[in-house]
Amino acid sequence: MVASGCGGTGRELAPYVDLDGLDLVTRSITLDARAGGAAPRVAETPSGLVHAVGHQNPGLEHFLATELPWLVRAGVRVHVSVVGASIGEYAELARRLSRAPGVAGLEINLGSPDQAGEDLFEVREPYHAASVVAAVRREFPADRPVLAKLRPDLSRAVEGARAVHDAGASGVVLGDAVPAAMPDGRPGGLCGPAITPVALRCVREVTALLPDVEVVGAGGVDGPATARAFLAAGAVGVQVGAALLHDPTTVARVRAALADDLADDLADDLAGGPDDPERTL
Ligand SMILES: Cc1cc2nc3c(=O)[nH]c(=O)nc-3n(C[C@H](O)[C@H](O)[C@H](O)COP(=O)(O)O)c2cc1C
Repeated sequence: MVASGCGGTGRELAPYVDLDGLDLVTRSITLDARAGGAAPRVAETPSGLVHAVGHQNPGLEHFLATELPWLVRAGVRVHVSVVGASIGEYAELARRLSRAPGVAGLEINLGSPDQAGEDLFEVREPYHAASVVAAVRREFPADRPVLAKLRPDLSRAVEGARAVHDAGASGVVLGDAVPAAMPDGRPGGLCGPAITPVALRCVREVTALLPDVEVVGAGGVDGPATARAFLAAGAVGVQVGAALLHDPTTVARVRAALADDLADDLADDLAGGPDDPERTL
């Protein structure tokens, strides 16, 4: 999957990637348009980048009228990332998106809420996160996936994943960027190779302790090797984020390599082998 906010509106990827059948998570969409944070919004670090985009997006109405139809026509499987400042806002986004043709699924942004820091509503807390997921799930058809995206915070990952799974999330994305600071001190999120080991540890702990929870890994996936590391840690899928900013073909390369792996596994299964007692063919 293309990670939220890293594939632009989809149009930017078109010259580099066959969009037909591609799973793309949109940048996080709010009910009303957001102008975003002040420039510069990204800063290079020795092993990744810090970003402070501030949820720049055109708002739900404009997204439904322009970006979504284009993506659907291009054959993209569109997962809309939603972000709000209250349970009601998340639910309203889900309700309106449930009626929009071509929305394959939702991803709930629970790691970087809109207007963070409200005293009464802290969506990064597992209890509030679960309330959001339950409210979204009530508004969105049961046969379409709702992913809950969490921060790769080892101290809360298992608790958070359990809470959102019990509230009805189809799966968990681990994870979002790691809280960091821009060089000028503004809050931002660290992503890229620097966070891969942290995200891998979170994926490993959640999948080991909660085998029923399907986890999509994210954090510094820059090619087949890192993607395979997330799958080896127990993830059922991966997202490619910041790597797309310097090589937009990364998602196509990862996709092709994992499809080849799958084909090889199937061929091995069909050929049978003494090492696997389950093999019957
Ligand atoms: C420029 C940029 C914009 C992002 N925008 C969003 C966003 O709108 N919503 C969201 O949930 N995550 C957003 N993210 C976080 C990514 O989706 C991803 O979770 C994170 O960067 C870790 O993956 P990576 O190391 O492969 O980039 C953004 C990341 C970057 C670099």
